[in-house]
Amino acid sequence: MDDKKKCVDELRLEIKKLQAENEHLARLLEHSETDIQTSLSAISHELRNTLTLLVGSVQFLEQDHPEIISDKNWQSLWADLLHMQTFLMDLSSFRSMQNISLSRKLCDLNALLREICRSCQPLFDGIHKNLIFLCPKAPTVLYADGRKLAHVFTNLIKNGMEALNDVGTVSLRIRESAPRENSLTGRETVAIEVKDTGTGLSEAQQEKIFKPFYSEKSGGTGLGLSIAHAVVRAHSGQITVDSDPGQGTTFTVLLPKFAAAPDTGPF
Ligand SMILES: Nc1ncnc2c1ncn2[C@@H]1O[C@H](COP(=O)(O)OP(=O)(O)O)[C@@H](O)[C@H]1O
Ligand SMILES: [Mg+2]
Repeated sequence: MDDKKKCVDELRLEIKKLQAENEHLARLLEHSETDIQTSLSAISHELRNTLTLLVGSVQFLEQDHPEIISDKNWQSLWADLLHMQTFLMDLSSFRSMQNISLSRKLCDLNALLREICRSCQPLFDGIHKNLIFLCPKAPTVLYADGRKLAHVFTNLIKNGMEALNDVGTVSLRIRESAPRENSLTGRETVAIEVKDTGTGLSEAQQEKIFKPFYSEKSGGTGLGLSIAHAVVRAHSGQITVDSDPGQGTTFTVLLPKFAAAPDTGPF
C-alpha cells in the first residue's frame, strides 16, 4: 500500500512538473516573433559580454600560473570556451541571415577562393590530410557578396576536413556549369564543388543537414550549412549534396554569373 502511495505521489510530482513546463512553453509561445528575436539578441549580447570577461579572467590566470596550461581540465576549459564563442558567432550570423541583405560587387571568384584555401590550409597537415584548389586560368567574375560567400566556402571546407578519417583530401574546384545546372538557376551559372573523401552521408542524413541546429558533432553548432544555404539562395543560386556512406561527399554550389538585370526605368 505504501509503495502504491509512493508511486502515486511521484506521478503527481511528475505531472506537476510537466504542467509547469507546459505553462512555461505556452508563455514563450505567446511572445510574438519580434519579441523572440529581441530576446534572442539581448540574450546573445549578454552571453557574449560575459564570455569576453570569462576569457579575460582565464587569460590572466594563465599568465599568473603558467604551470596550469598542462592540466587537462584547463585544456578542456579552453575547448568549452572556444565552443561557446563559435556557437555565439554562428548564432549571430544565423540571425542576420534571417533578413539577409547582400552587398554585391564584381569579384573574381578564383582569387576569393584561393585566399580562403590559404586561410584554411593550417587545418590540414599536408601529409595525411590535404586541401587542393583547382580553378580555370581566366578569372571567374561574379557580381556577388564576397564576404558572405567566403563564410559559405570556409564552412564547407571545414566540414569536409572534419569528415575525413586519418587520411584524406578536400578539393575545391571551380568549373563551367552543365546546361542542366544553368537551367536550375535559370541563368548562366558557375559551379563550385567542395569534395571530400570522408565518412559520407546516408540519404536520411542528407535530408536533415541543412536544417538549423542539426549537428552530429559533439562541438557542432549545426548552423554552418543552414547559413550556407541562406547565402546561396540570396544569390539566386542552389546548393546540392551528393554522397554515399563511406564514399565521401560533394557539395555543389551553383551561382548565377550576373544578378538579374536591374529595372532600368524608361530609358
Ligand atoms: N562534408 C561532410 N561530410 C559528412 N557529413 C557532413 C559534411 N558536412 C556536413 N555534414 C553533416 O552535417 C551536419 C551539419 O553541418 P553544419 O551545419 O556545418 O553544422 P556543424 O558542422 O556545426 O555540425 C554535421 O554535423 C555533419 O553531420
Ligand atoms: Mg560546420
